[in-house]
Amino acid sequence: MPEPTLQIVIASTRPGRIGLPVAQWFEERARDHGAFAVDVADLLEIDLPFLDEPNHPRLREYTKQHTRDWSARVDSADAFVFVTPEYNYSLPAALKNAIDFLHFEWQYKPVGFVSYGGISAGTRAVQMIKQVVTTLKMYALPEAVSIPFVAQFLDDEERITPNETMEQAADAMLGELRRMSDALSALRAG
Ligand SMILES: Cc1cc2nc3c(=O)[nH]c(=O)nc-3n(C[C@H](O)[C@H](O)[C@H](O)COP(=O)(O)O)c2cc1C
Repeated sequence: MPEPTLQIVIASTRPGRIGLPVAQWFEERARDHGAFAVDVADLLEIDLPFLDEPNHPRLREYTKQHTRDWSARVDSADAFVFVTPEYNYSLPAALKNAIDFLHFEWQYKPVGFVSYGGISAGTRAVQMIKQVVTTLKMYALPEAVSIPFVAQFLDDEERITPNETMEQAADAMLGELRRMSDALSALRAG
């Protein structure tokens, strides 16, 4: 049987974003871990407009090609990791918008978080995202990678050099994501 697909969603769309090197580090870790086939969904590249569908996404009556493409992309995933900064103690608007576009595509899928920021390591944003994703019947994991003062982990080439805590946290989260993805697969099939 093929491995389930983990979709890593890059939430920051800002020029010069640290989210890109953070996601690149995590992507490499996820590929080495081996529990999942990995897909990276970069919200900057995907470039969704602000929600412009007339119908509730529960109806799946999408009128725009960008929505149909995003729907197919999220449908194809079995589990997610949101790589997210914290903006004003909350989640980036681009991530909330991308979530709001869809409904059933998210259901019965686990989600883990790689968050980063200053002293809070993005954890206040994660707490807010959890409120949103539970509405969609996603299962948010407590295991997480929380990176405080993220700039300290950037090397001269703007790549992330992780510490052992980050590596262990990533592996623990990936292991739990796989367990949860397998456990929820019966509900997704239904
Ligand atoms: C609009 C804005 C709001 C921010 N708010 C917070 C915040 O509430 N907490 C925090 O720890 N850092 C905050 N920061 C600093 C970010 O953690 C830092 O800029 C980080 O690099 C943002 O991620 P990005 O580079 O991937 O966009 C904020 C940055 C921006 C641009």
